[in-house]
Amino acid sequence: MKSSLISSIVLASQVFALPTTTSVRANTAVKYVPFCSLSTAGVNIAGFDFGVLTDGSQTVSDVYPPLSALGGPDGAGQMSHFVKDDNLNIFRLPVGWEYLTNYNIGTFDTTKLANYDQLVQACLSTGATCIIDIHNYARWYGGIIGQGGPSNASFVQLWTQLATKYKASTNIAFGVMNEPHDLDINIWASTVQMVVTAIRTAGATSQMILLPGTGYTSAGSFIDNGSGAALSKVKNLDGSTTNLIFDVHQYLDYDYSGTHTECVTDNISSAWQPLATWLRANKRQALNTETGGGNTASCEQYLCSAINFMNSNTDVFLGYVAWSAGSFDSTYELDLTPTLSGSTWTDTALMKACIAR
Ligand SMILES: *[C@@H]1O[C@H](CO)[C@@H](O)[C@H](O)[C@H]1NC(C)=O
Ligand SMILES: *[C@@H]1O[C@H](CO)[C@@H](O)[C@H](O)[C@H]1NC(C)=O
Ligand SMILES: *[C@@H]1O[C@H](CO)[C@@H](O)[C@H](O)[C@H]1NC(C)=O
Repeated sequence: MKSSLISSIVLASQVFALPTTTSVRANTAVKYVPFCSLSTAGVNIAGFDFGVLTDGSQTVSDVYPPLSALGGPDGAGQMSHFVKDDNLNIFRLPVGWEYLTNYNIGTFDTTKLANYDQLVQACLSTGATCIIDIHNYARWYGGIIGQGGPSNASFVQLWTQLATKYKASTNIAFGVMNEPHDLDINIWASTVQMVVTAIRTAGATSQMILLPGTGYTSAGSFIDNGSGAALSKVKNLDGSTTNLIFDVHQYLDYDYSGTHTECVTDNISSAWQPLATWLRANKRQALNTETGGGNTASCEQYLCSAINFMNSNTDVFLGYVAWSAGSFDSTYELDLTPTLSGSTWTDTALMKACIAR
């Protein structure tokens, strides 16, 4: 759908090459940026995180794996479709820490890790970048990692094991933690430094590592809340910041929670523009690993607008990963799961309008 729009615009600009105001107006009237200028675009494939609350506790029996082999929706088929039909090239694969360890912090549950790895391998087989996302809000059962809850060492052990397992896969990205909140950002940044050191020391020397800030790593408060300054100090073994990318989220509903089907803002002036300016000044980059909205006209308008902005600032924004497909269905407010009929996948309205390209 988008590609036909792209070709008609390219064609129009070739045909009407004269710089007339008419052709300029015709182009600016187009709602979407007509080029796939961002290096990455994709969607979350949720399910292994189901049952995780914002206090970092998880009811593991609520997990609904997005894998038909495990009795769930066909996440592997969804990813193949997104790559082939929608030109997407990055997927984020949320998983609960409790699930991976079956509540036994520090030690992986062999079966559950193998289950999650099926999703990782399905993702890698599409050729896309695959983000391992520990979806725990910097917590385990209410205790903050390194700040009264699990020790830094437990968290480092988790990442050492994951990095050792995936170090040979160059398309893996390490999403250190989903949406930390209500913690000391400077101590948290020191914990993140330990994890980065552990991942690189384990031999995963080149992959992207995503650094999350406090305030649910919201793009709008990333600078004001001190996340940018604190996480800027995190370095690779050689002192560089190569492939250390800031992880930012932003929802567009009235309370920015990502729980409503209607959007009220594109948050460019209060979130994306200030962040872009700061990133440029500090020579850093960010990846937006959660954004989205309902399949509604208001979210089509505002999400497309926010993505357009990112498309115009590709020196500082690597891309976006929308929330969410996987094990969600049409009863979920922010559902982006495509439906299969025969051999044809059909995308949701918001996926078609803004996310596919
Ligand atoms: C975790 O590491 C940080 C950084 O060194 C430190 O400030 C904090 O006290 C540590 N937490 C614990 C419980 O040792
Ligand atoms: C800033 O961080 C504090 C502590 O995590 C949090 O309570 C607050 O909501 C954050 N502010 C914003 C705008 O996200
Ligand atoms: C998003 O935009 C609204 C309206 O411009 C603003 O009030 C709000 O603070 C922004 N949210 C964040 C997280 O920056």
